[in-house]
Amino acid sequence: MKIITSTSELKHLLAAYKQEQVALVPTMGCLHEGHLSLIQKAKRLADIVVVSIYVNPLQFGTNEDLGSYPQPFDEDAKLCEQEGVDFIFHPANLYPEHGIKVGLHVNDLSDSLCGTSRPGHFDGVVTVVNILLNIVQPNIAIFGAKDFQQLSIIRRMVADLHMPVEIIEADTIREADGLAKSSRNRYLNTEQRKQAAELSTCLHLMQKAAKQGLTVQQIIETGLQHLQTHKIEPDYLQIVSESTLQPVQSLETNELLRIFIAAPIGSARLIDNMPLFAAIEHEETTPCA
Ligand code: PAJ
Repeated sequence: MKIITSTSELKHLLAAYKQEQVALVPTMGCLHEGHLSLIQKAKRLADIVVVSIYVNPLQFGTNEDLGSYPQPFDEDAKLCEQEGVDFIFHPANLYPEHGIKVGLHVNDLSDSLCGTSRPGHFDGVVTVVNILLNIVQPNIAIFGAKDFQQLSIIRRMVADLHMPVEIIEADTIREADGLAKSSRNRYLNTEQRKQAAELSTCLHLMQKAAKQGLTVQQIIETGLQHLQTHKIEPDYLQIVSESTLQPVQSLETNELLRIFIAAPIGSARLIDNMPLFAAIEHEETTPCA
């Protein structure tokens, strides 16, 4: 495994792999099993795996945790090595010295969910992902469903701008009690950690309520009551269309629907999402004679 900090060096090295399938896994480091599952998927699908580790200042708001974002680079590098990563791209800075003058802007898809409370966040995400894709020029790039709004926006960027890369989705990896793995979970104390598990329980209860035929309002009320019992005040708890990311008022639609939650727990802001109707489990059937 090679650790590369220089953009020109990475481009030069990757030029030797034009005939191979190259996968990019963009991250901000502080790797956990969620990230590792993306790397494992990349290894299954491609010959060469590039993991980028870059805490992108452009996607952090002024009151957010850019300054304190954990950066245990040596541990990250060890994990990448164990997973068989070929290149870690770890640049000190991806932007011009006097600031970026041209970036990308997201329309509509950033007007809901996390986009509302984090103005400019998704512009920062698509700009850096665009830069990383231009540098690495991978065949595929892998993103987690844990950040479903980010994944949807990146898919749309690639489609709208005719970018020559395939975006691959990876499932959310969770702790045993259901909490989605996140670099920010390490900010939680024991009590907050327990409370945090209630976010996924809330989403499961809402899936159950949907299965029982309750209305959108009743399903959301079910979730809010659960959160209230556990003293959690969400930033949002919504049922939205997967294509528009806008809240729906009724379940009578052909759209795929998804539940999204964001909530502050201690000093961390945690997010999670699940399909409203969980995939129907494969039922055992008697084969036709
Ligand atoms: P980061 O938060 O480090 O996440 C990197 C990738 O790991 C994202 O695609 C994210 O969805 C995925 N991921 C995080 N937790 C996961 C989990 N529990 N299960 C599965 N996948 C998980 O997302 C970013 O960085 C940045 O915005 C980035 C895309 C790198 C741009 O700066």
